[in-house]
Amino acid sequence: MTLEPAFQVFLGDCRSRVEDALDRWLPSEKTQPLRLHQAMRYAALGQGKRVRPVIVYAVGQALGAPPEHLDGAACAVELIHAYSLVHDDLPAMDDDDLRRGRPTCHKAFDEATAILVGDALQTLAFRVLSSDTATPLNAEQRLAMVSELAHASGSRGMAGGQALDMEATGREIDLAQLENLHIHKTGALILAAARLGAIAAGRGQTEDVEPLERFAKCIGLAFQVRDDVLDVEGDTEVLGKTGGKDAATDKATYPALIGLDAAREMTQTLVQDALDGIRGFDDRADPLRELAHYIVGRQC
Ligand code: IPE
Ligand code: IPE
Ligand code: MG
Ligand code: MG
Ligand code: MG
Repeated sequence: MTLEPAFQVFLGDCRSRVEDALDRWLPSEKTQPLRLHQAMRYAALGQGKRVRPVIVYAVGQALGAPPEHLDGAACAVELIHAYSLVHDDLPAMDDDDLRRGRPTCHKAFDEATAILVGDALQTLAFRVLSSDTATPLNAEQRLAMVSELAHASGSRGMAGGQALDMEATGREIDLAQLENLHIHKTGALILAAARLGAIAAGRGQTEDVEPLERFAKCIGLAFQVRDDVLDVEGDTEVLGKTGGKDAATDKATYPALIGLDAAREMTQTLVQDALDGIRGFDDRADPLRELAHYIVGRQC
């Protein structure tokens, strides 16, 4: 897909800001324990679309926050996401060999290291939120962000969704169950990214938050439906992860349950709903609007 030039610049800026923050926060690979620190950097740096950080910046901008106020939140959600991918790829879960165009963390290192990478990236996220002095936020904002991100990552959020995903593998589930699974395993962190952006903008309690949350819920579900569609029609080379795995391992996905065309249509409907919800925002929300199109038009 071709991206709007202004949005392309916005994406590039967000990615470079969050990658700088990640680089600053991740432990040096020259410090002990060397292997763990190398593996943490391997998992969190390199390729990656950085969609969740981009949501933090785009929501923050829509609410008038400068990017310097958003770096900690952007970095923290990406650390949780990177951890979730490392654990998602483990043999006990999806058993994948390829991630972001390279061997998965447990392949490049070993399983024990990959488990510890997940543990350490996860706790680093909360260290960043609570103590990143480069991001000028007050204690109340930090605490609210810690609480949101912890909730979104745990058993009532992403980890819970991953549990539902494992339970559903190889079984029949209905549409409501599949939606619930996707909302948790992927939607929760995307919603948290939006909420963190609003909190960091000092607007976590205002009436602006509700439409932004609705927007995030729609694009969160659309993001995972698109991921399911790409697993069917995408090219491993472009995806940077092995295509066709969901069908081969009998995963619960939208293409499997409603068919490829209906799944594609669903992503379009969700984007429309997302955009309708933020109609009242001014042009500072344009990156958010472009992001919605990007999420369902992306090829990887
Ligand atoms: C992959 O997420 C896992 C899902 C939740 C679908 P991304 O597609 O955001 O992966 P990266 O970060 O760009 O590699
Ligand atoms: C992963 O969903 C969701 C999380 C990592 C929480 P998938 O298992 O579909 O993600 P990919 O396709 O391996 O990136
Ligand atoms: Mg999975
Ligand atoms: Mg997977
Ligand atoms: Mg997938």
